[in-house]
Amino acid sequence: MAPIRPRRSVLYMPGANERALEKARSLPADALILDLEDSVAPDAKVEARGKVVAAVKEGGYGKREVIIRPNALETAWGTADILAAASAAPDAILIPKVHGPGDIISAAKILKSVNAPEKTKLWAMMETPFSILRCGEIAATGADPENRLVCLVMGTNDLLKESRARALHDRFAVVPWLAMTVVAARGYGLDIIDGVYNDFKDESGFRKECEHGRTLGMDGKTLIHPSQVAPCNEIFSPTEEEITWSKKIIAAFNEPENAPKGVITVEGKMVERLHLVQARRTVAIANSVREIEEWF
Ligand code: COA
Ligand code: MG
Repeated sequence: MAPIRPRRSVLYMPGANERALEKARSLPADALILDLEDSVAPDAKVEARGKVVAAVKEGGYGKREVIIRPNALETAWGTADILAAASAAPDAILIPKVHGPGDIISAAKILKSVNAPEKTKLWAMMETPFSILRCGEIAATGADPENRLVCLVMGTNDLLKESRARALHDRFAVVPWLAMTVVAARGYGLDIIDGVYNDFKDESGFRKECEHGRTLGMDGKTLIHPSQVAPCNEIFSPTEEEITWSKKIIAAFNEPENAPKGVITVEGKMVERLHLVQARRTVAIANSVREIEEWF
């Protein structure tokens, strides 16, 4: 099992934007995606690669996860990007435009061939029609630690484009893809992060979409602007109420008389061992959030 860690807020920044790479060191996002793919123009790709590798090697990002998104392997830049990314030893490399399990397996083989450090995991962009059709097979690659897959990231803008669906505020067209991918992720013990909210000046709409994602089971949301970090962290953090209730469940199961029991009563409510698993996760995430926040 991968260690439990918060991935509430995952901020993208264009790799060509030096100011954003610098500013990110002071932003309280749980994870940062330094992008070489769609937010970087073709003419700026090679320069952006150099900037991103230098920024990751320089460090200064504290306890946050740093992820590099290379171009897809089938593009002119893909192989050089992934090799450069591996040399910088980020926490993860986010593979774009995944179509099937082979994309993850190939990337993992490349990392192995250059002895990339064990700490460098793979994340997968779920943004093509085939990524949704084959989400179970893609997530299943995570069952073999050799493949390094720990997290799926929804690419809702690409999915809307590819499917020709309408981007409405209730995400009517998107919900089935999100829900399918959540169960695929959970089936194989992976984390999953929701897509971006493009209208970054609309905080109330953004908050609604964070709540929506959390309700669907997302661990966090990908972000495009620093102003989205604070509301996102707030909505995806365990609430005080959830933490208190989780601690009560843990304490109740720790009572010697409850040790052999599968189901008990806490404050008049039925609580099963499955709730204990959830409670432990909530407390672990809350502790980890506190550690990240104390770092600032
Ligand atoms: N990460 C880090 N810093 C960022 C940032 C990001 N994603 N987006 C903006 N900033 C910084 C700016 O550099 C600026 O810093 P400063 O004022 O301290 O110098 C500050 O935040 C305010 O930026 P603002 O002027 O409001 O935004 P902008 O007009 O410069 O940029 C976007 C707007 C949308 C172009 C920009 O936010 C962006 O590039 N977002 C990420 C896009 C992306 O990566 N997409 C790919 C995945 S969908
Ligand atoms: Mg995309």
